Amino acid sequence: MRKAISTYEDVVFLVDTFYEKVALDDLIGPVFTERLHDKWETHLNTMYTFWQTVLLGERTYEGRPFPPHLDLPVYEMHFLRWLTLFEETLTEYFQGENAEYALVHAQRMAKQFQLKLKMARLAKSSDHIS
Ligand code: HEM
Repeated sequence: MRKAISTYEDVVFLVDTFYEKVALDDLIGPVFTERLHDKWETHLNTMYTFWQTVLLGERTYEGRPFPPHLDLPVYEMHFLRWLTLFEETLTEYFQGENAEYALVHAQRMAKQFQLKLKMARLAKSSDHIS
């Protein structure tokens, strides 16, 4: 049965299940594997704290989400796949306010990341002009 995201264990399950899908995905799996190599566990631990902070209001994440994405080879199609897998995971296992909010929050961040990436790439490509 689908349940609310209300405990740390729920967050761990959400993150583990989502990144299992990510790791197997033909488009975005390789992007993660190339960056993370054997650091998957560290990444998962960071993501537990990130979603624990966003969804449960327990402030265990103190990082800055965007910088690690700055030099990743990711474009609109990668973000769309990321969001599809995330939504799939949420609707398979969860329901309720936090599940809905998780998707809205991820969609918002995906938009921001893409805008920031676009600006960073534009700035880089005009470096040689000035
Ligand atoms: C194409 C889509 C994406 C890819 C390929 C991607 C990939 C990655 C990778 C490889 C890392 C680990 C970086 C490192 O430790 O060196 C990371 C970290 C992270 N990602 Fe993404 N990501 C994507 C989209 C998103 C979205 C939409 C969110 C919004 C929830 C997000 C949130 C985060 C956060 C919070 C971290 C941890 C940053 C830190 O170290 O403090 N990512 N991502």
